[in-house]
Amino acid sequence: MTVLVTGGAGFIGSNFVYYMLKKYPDYRVICVDCLTYAGNLSTLESALKNPNFAFYKTNICDREGIYEIFAKEKPDIVVNFAAESHVDRSIEGPEIFLRTNILGTQVMMDACREYGIKRYHQVSTDEVYGDLPLDRPDLFFTEQTPIHTSSPYSASKASADLLVMAYNRTYDLPTTISRCSNNYGPYHFPEKLIPLMIANALNDRPLPVYGKGENVRDWLYVEDHCKAIDLIIHNGTVGEVYNIGGHNEMKNIDIVKLICKKLNKPESLIRFVTDRKGHDLRYAIDPTKIHNELGWLPETRFADGIDLTIDWYLKNTDWWENIISGEYRNYYERMYGSR
Ligand code: NAD
Ligand code: TYD
Repeated sequence: MTVLVTGGAGFIGSNFVYYMLKKYPDYRVICVDCLTYAGNLSTLESALKNPNFAFYKTNICDREGIYEIFAKEKPDIVVNFAAESHVDRSIEGPEIFLRTNILGTQVMMDACREYGIKRYHQVSTDEVYGDLPLDRPDLFFTEQTPIHTSSPYSASKASADLLVMAYNRTYDLPTTISRCSNNYGPYHFPEKLIPLMIANALNDRPLPVYGKGENVRDWLYVEDHCKAIDLIIHNGTVGEVYNIGGHNEMKNIDIVKLICKKLNKPESLIRFVTDRKGHDLRYAIDPTKIHNELGWLPETRFADGIDLTIDWYLKNTDWWENIISGEYRNYYERMYGSR
């Protein structure tokens, strides 16, 4: 079996590459990633030593390049993680989000039609459902919740989902889609909440909390997401959408305070800054379908997952210090300088 993973040099994609190489020693895993600011080849250092792994530095929008890889590698399963993934950057510049997230998805599915595959899996997000009110803890996103996007990022992911459903219906492409809540864990790029707060706290830098920090996210340890995708690509029903979530809702401010406590840093580092435009209030997934159909449940409790994550960042300072010392500085100044 050959599994082609796009975006495998990013956060969730790399965790998935390692998960698959370990779980299926007889599978070939091919990674296609063009190494944007968010992709990091050093993340794949150990995978590159594995004879069952191959890496192609190719953009998913490059039709010719993608077709060549398909012709050579003949993948059975394609899992599309590659995307522009940061809401704040999508507010600053939406175009690349539309190009990569929508047109890139189209190229990947066209390649699947041209060369034939057993399964095309689209890694999507709960953000396609928009947000839930803070005062209705009884409400959750199900697969039937209407698409209702807030940011250019979520609009681009929702557009891709619609295209995937169209390719399934029109061309009979064997597709599945998963919509997951916020992930955390190793190799998370330090522009996102949890790794940004860990890195800033370790450097005794201010911790920028948007608005009042009351927004709620449903956090899932990245390995649990990888397990869910593994189940869907092997046992999921073609044409279906599966929600993946941890039933682990937390306010941003509580996460930041917890990180301060774990790192023994004062809460006086916290700064309440101008809110994100269009900021979604609450995400909360109902994962009943994937539980009933595929037996999936989140296995890592947040209390354990956050310890594992903090421990990883403490042991891998080179990985993130390298990132935050480069182009990231300009990004940080642009995004937070006058906030
Ligand atoms: P990430 O930003 O850490 O990684 C994205 C990877 O895709 C990078 O390695 C980057 O180089 C690559 N990439 C970007 N554009 C590309 C292109 N045009 N061609 C080839 N490679 C390209 O993202 P992530 O957090 O790992 O998210 C992966 C996927 O999961 C995305 O599709 C995202 O929408 C989805 N998702 C993420 C979360 C989350 O909490 N991070 C939650 C739900 C869904
Ligand atoms: P993020 O990690 O960007 O994920 P998403 O927006 O996709 O959920 O942000 C998680 C939450 O944390 C979101 O409500 C915005 C908030 N946030 C901050 O308060 N400060 C920050 O510096 C960042 C990056 C995020």
